[in-house]
Amino acid sequence: MFSELAELPPDPILGLTKLFVDDRRSKKIDLGVGVFRTADNRTPVLDSVKAGEALVMQKEATKSYTPADGAPGFADSVISLVFGPDHDAVRAGRVTAIQTPGGCGALRVGGDLLKRTNAKSIVAGEPTWPNHKPLLAAAGHRLRMIPYYDGTSASVNFEGFLGELQKLGADDVLLIHGACHNPTGADLRRDQIDAVVDVAAKRGFLPFVDIAYHGFANGLDEDAYIVREMARRLPELLVSYSCSKNFGLYRERTGALIAVGETAQRANAARSQAINIARGSYSLPPAHGGAIVAEILQSPELAAQWRAEADAMRRAIRESRRLLVRTSAEMQMGDKLAYIEKQFGMFSLLPISEQQVLQLREKHGVYAAGSGRINLCGVNLGNVEHLCEALRDVFGAGT
Ligand code: LMR
Repeated sequence: MFSELAELPPDPILGLTKLFVDDRRSKKIDLGVGVFRTADNRTPVLDSVKAGEALVMQKEATKSYTPADGAPGFADSVISLVFGPDHDAVRAGRVTAIQTPGGCGALRVGGDLLKRTNAKSIVAGEPTWPNHKPLLAAAGHRLRMIPYYDGTSASVNFEGFLGELQKLGADDVLLIHGACHNPTGADLRRDQIDAVVDVAAKRGFLPFVDIAYHGFANGLDEDAYIVREMARRLPELLVSYSCSKNFGLYRERTGALIAVGETAQRANAARSQAINIARGSYSLPPAHGGAIVAEILQSPELAAQWRAEADAMRRAIRESRRLLVRTSAEMQMGDKLAYIEKQFGMFSLLPISEQQVLQLREKHGVYAAGSGRINLCGVNLGNVEHLCEALRDVFGAGT
């Protein structure tokens, strides 16, 4: 049977790490996979996570199965983190959640859940995270792309985006990035979010908000605005949530699928369906990461420590953006990269072709994703000049 199987190339994003590690050159820069890195290129375990994990290990009395919605306390803690402590929808019991294996697990279970509804199509702004398409395709959906990013102005083509949203109906789903748009870093402003919510309220489509970088744009409460506002003004909502980046729990595969229903009964029905879907696939989520998150969020001291650490990561990324833009200006590259300072989260798109991405990699040891996406966390004082020289070379003379 296996003779029928062709060997596939590595994942376009995750595969970059191996290429980078295998590169023997000493001058190389990893701007590939979306993980946070310190100025000396480490992805450390957060102190709050170490402390939460120690408590989990100390208290752990069994390895028996967890409840169907994940580690005890996880779902409620994440709901309270995302919606705030006193959101009306939460108080009304309209918000339910299950722990999933990472944000990917949430997207996939969400996709399967939508297959059990009257959802006819899922649309997303172009470009989107490359794994959205295969994840939702595996659930039987074809992602339809609508305008979102304008490469010429390096900003959101809001008129084009909103124009398409106005054509959606009650059996459409809008997959939308919560904050820190991946891959462009071009986020919606608050007034633009309000306009999207207005259209959703009028047209009746269901937003499916993907939050994978919560806290890395403007802060944990600020970045949750879109979800809080949608839950306040719309009857229904799905959210895929990842604890990979803001808790640094990447390999623990910790995320959540959150459903907001028009009534508590509908939200509970959505949760029961999601649990049933998970049971038919991976059965139960891995418990360890969820237990750590619950431990942290349920302890005022650990939660405060974690919030400070998440904020420090946010500020470090902002500083890397500044460093790249300032250095490129100092190296007489004009204002070609100035837009990077106006964007949010880990990523920005370089205005280069796939050919130039390859040139960056092969000639200069600079690893970016094929679309020209760079992870700003990889930019630091020790490599920014090499990066700018490499960019100047691929941009060509005259820049
Ligand atoms: C990324 O976009 O680099 C991250 O979300 C990692 C991944 O799974 O692709």
